[in-house]
Amino acid sequence: MPEIASRNHIEAISRVAKKALEEAKIDWEELNAITPTYGPGLVGALLVGVSYAKALAFAKKIPLVGVNHIQGHIAANYITYPQLKPPFLCIMMSGGNTQIIQVKDYTKFKVLGKTRDDAIGEAFDKVARVVGLGYPGGPKVDQLAQEGQPNITLPKTHFEEDTLDFSFSGIKTAVINLHHKMPYINKADLCASFQKSVTETLMENLEKAVKQTRIKTIVLAGGVSSNSYIRKEFLDLEGKGIKVYMPDLKLCTDNAAMIASAGYYNYIAGIRDNLDLNAVPNLKLNE
Ligand code: KG4
Repeated sequence: MPEIASRNHIEAISRVAKKALEEAKIDWEELNAITPTYGPGLVGALLVGVSYAKALAFAKKIPLVGVNHIQGHIAANYITYPQLKPPFLCIMMSGGNTQIIQVKDYTKFKVLGKTRDDAIGEAFDKVARVVGLGYPGGPKVDQLAQEGQPNITLPKTHFEEDTLDFSFSGIKTAVINLHHKMPYINKADLCASFQKSVTETLMENLEKAVKQTRIKTIVLAGGVSSNSYIRKEFLDLEGKGIKVYMPDLKLCTDNAAMIASAGYYNYIAGIRDNLDLNAVPNLKLNE
């Protein structure tokens, strides 16, 4: 319900900003810059944050530095690992996006592959809804899968050999059909099989990206990177000479600290926005 989301943002933003400063024991006068997300996302919610940030930048005479939401997810890792530096490959897995990104620098990116239909988090959420686990489904599928065995074969979509794109709608539909045809199927096994199959797809493409770019540092990002099975499987890549980083659990799903982290790197790179900054619902990453 986008309109309700926007209205809730309006009601919360002043209170949340005040509380954040109180918790950080920082006074308004100590702010060096304000760094709102201006896309991608729901336009109404983005406009609330952008407008608030513009008013604050104007009133306090501080720089306004726009941040791409996806860049924020990547930058969550700089909080967990202050020593982490680009270049690296990022696998970005959230409710709205699934991408393999070559992170060339703190503010320069190249998208190497992306989903052609559903985002991975969307697939987790739909599977959870169908088997009756509720929303948000990802954490519930993760939990139930721990009680099951990945013994159900599910389809995987393969594209041309050289592409790094994904597709998750086929497997999602297969899980939904199986559940409808066999209502008494073991739900834990179904969740474990779904999770294993999508993880294999993620890892196959990522290993292809490592071969293509010869970059051997991999960084996980986005809400789905809190999945316990995905984290364990990716960590196993370390045995193949690949260095793997993943954000602290509390920094995987959407949060303001990751946006501040990306904003910090944009700020020190000299990026500044004017008071005509607008929300861009389909904002792309800077190449
Ligand atoms: O990154 P995020 O907080 O929001 C977006 O920007 O989309 O990601 C939310 C997504 C939801 O689809 C949620 O179900 C999924 O992340 N998620 C998980 C887990 N925790 C959150 N998916 C699988 N396993 C989890 N443990």
